[in-house]
Amino acid sequence: MSVETSTELRQFVAELDRLLADARAAFASAGESSLLESARIEFIGARQGRLKAVQKQLAAIPVSDKPAAGQRLNQVKQEIEAAFENAQVALSGAKKERVRDISFDVSLPGTPVRTGRLHPITRTIDELKDIMGRLGFTAADGPEVEDRWHNFDALNIPEDHPARDPLDNFYLAVAGAVSEAGESLLRSQTSTVQIRVMENRKPPLRIISLGRVYRPDTADATHYPMFHQMEGLLVDHKVTLADLKTVLRLFATSYLGESVPVRIRPSFFPFTEPSVEADYFWNGRWVEFGGAGLVDPNVLAAVGYDPETTSGFAFGLGVERLCMIRHKISDLRALFTNDVRFLRQFPPG
Ligand code: DAH
Repeated sequence: MSVETSTELRQFVAELDRLLADARAAFASAGESSLLESARIEFIGARQGRLKAVQKQLAAIPVSDKPAAGQRLNQVKQEIEAAFENAQVALSGAKKERVRDISFDVSLPGTPVRTGRLHPITRTIDELKDIMGRLGFTAADGPEVEDRWHNFDALNIPEDHPARDPLDNFYLAVAGAVSEAGESLLRSQTSTVQIRVMENRKPPLRIISLGRVYRPDTADATHYPMFHQMEGLLVDHKVTLADLKTVLRLFATSYLGESVPVRIRPSFFPFTEPSVEADYFWNGRWVEFGGAGLVDPNVLAAVGYDPETTSGFAFGLGVERLCMIRHKISDLRALFTNDVRFLRQFPPG
């Protein structure tokens, strides 16, 4: 451009250049066709387009500069139109790409869906609930973080009883872990739920409670710091050990699928009087079920029942043991190491 160019022409050309740069940027960033179309109208719309507005300034350009100005105007117009077309092509290409992404070859073998399955302990728990449900026992729940009252005091476990030993329990050493009901701990037995249910309901009662309990045992083939128990409680009047034995025999027979003899041996638990250990006969030997007995009058009194008119039986069984017997599992730890090769051997639930 010659040195004699007028100021008007220079301003005109500068404006055209800015317009071109803006239009290119707007077209390139329009991610879908409706946006691209509004950008087209903004820049090269026939009536209100910004190019049209600049074109109007042509009138103010000195006559000698008009041809140069007109030429530049046409050039910019063509370049903007070309930029618009490029953007259009790019957009439709991107759409095709997307369509291709979701299309697939139906003749290829599919990706197998790997279904999960219920853990053997979960399945055992479900089955136990089912069997006991048929005997009229409904499932109740209690918290795993317990207080001293429900885990010990109300269960007639004396202050100096070794079951309270800090070395045999997971006491929680955190702020707020001591309440009116005593220090908190991970429950060491599901017998806690007996208390919770009796505190809230009146007899007659028939409940079971299945869940985790915790004791600082070293893990070996038969011990683990966390395991599951099934607690049973029946409260009515004139309940006897014969009722208890009958329920345990019907339970064992249902669970193992054939008539199973049950025997009881004298034992001691603070919350039952008399207390027994119960065994069932299976595969030629006596296998220990767990503890049981008639609910101690002190426990009935602790929850506000009248021990003169109410009586009941209770039992606590190990769920892992029942599961292992049934599936011939020899090492308890296999249930909790979560090796899928082990878990996959059980049928899906
Ligand atoms: N809570 C006892 C334990 O964990 C098991 C038990 C024994 C539960 C006797 C009972 C029972 O309900 O009557 O060792």
